[in-house]
Amino acid sequence: MSGSQVKRVTVLGAGLMGHGIAQVCAQTAGYDVTLLDVKQDFVDRGMSMIKDSLAKFVAKGGLDKGKADEILSRIHPTLDLKEAVERSELVIEAATEDPKLKLDLYRKVSEYLRPGAILASNTSSISITLLGSVTKNPENVAGMHFFNPPQLMPLIEVIRGAKTSDATVEAIRAAAKQMGKEAVLCKKDSPGFIVNRILLPALTEAALLVSEGVATPEDIDKAVTLGLNWPMGPLKLLDYVGLDTALAISEVLMQEFQDPKYRPSLLLRQMVRAGLLGRKSGQGFYEWTERNPKSK
Ligand code: 3HC
Repeated sequence: MSGSQVKRVTVLGAGLMGHGIAQVCAQTAGYDVTLLDVKQDFVDRGMSMIKDSLAKFVAKGGLDKGKADEILSRIHPTLDLKEAVERSELVIEAATEDPKLKLDLYRKVSEYLRPGAILASNTSSISITLLGSVTKNPENVAGMHFFNPPQLMPLIEVIRGAKTSDATVEAIRAAAKQMGKEAVLCKKDSPGFIVNRILLPALTEAALLVSEGVATPEDIDKAVTLGLNWPMGPLKLLDYVGLDTALAISEVLMQEFQDPKYRPSLLLRQMVRAGLLGRKSGQGFYEWTERNPKSK
């Protein structure tokens, strides 16, 4: 399968990342998109987040209303995995960052994929080689890692698993270009790839500063925003990507490298246990209103 042959894309998972990826596929790449999740509520929420995001583009004058409606009409929500997968040349998995859940999903998806179709994972840290190992065609499996919010962030990491073919890597690069993104290639299937291996220790360190009482979340974020010119401080960013997702990535990094520098902070674990997941649950290091955090 070459990138130019991709016309239909399926996105598995309509959550924080999945809805944005589906939108980019329809809005920028012009693909026909199927968006799948396991519950009607989740699919409805994903479609509603897409509508909100399209409305922001319209409000800013970057998109006219008719075009936004046309983009929306090219995104087909469904709960049926077979129907979602069997027609697409490219399937992008954006399910919860849980290795067991993903492996079960890959086994099933592999049964329904059309010959030559590519299965790309938006995983933040789970091994692409492992995901490919439970499929019939691991040469067609690779990482395609987007950044939150996918509608605005210009990068895609392309990750080569142990058995990923050159043709698959090239097809994903071509699809990334079609989506208006810059691609970088992670030549080895290394935990956390490039960005998360650098980012997660910094986020963990910020959570440690809070738990040690060194500074308030607001001052830590202010320090990094003004001192390092990050668009968001590390604690706001933790809230933005989801504390559960950050914890899951840290756990993979810790398990794979066995290096204490990747150990997640106890505070992060406790906040996740308490359901303080950040923006998605309304509360994390900050309380979140519809759009922006307000200080506690
Ligand atoms: N769709 C469309 N437009 C959107 C949008 C969306 N989903 N989200 C925000 N916008 C628009 C807003 O409407 C706003 O437009 P305006 O400037 O015309 O008013 C503009 O983007 C800026 O938004 P906000 O004013 O709400 O907030 P910010 O100025 O803080 O910008 C941000 C938001 C672009 C997210 C910026 O804060 C940022 O770049 N933050 C860092 C994000 C980041 O680091 N992401 C990577 C995380 S790591 C990751 O994803 C990997 C994973 O594996 C964990």
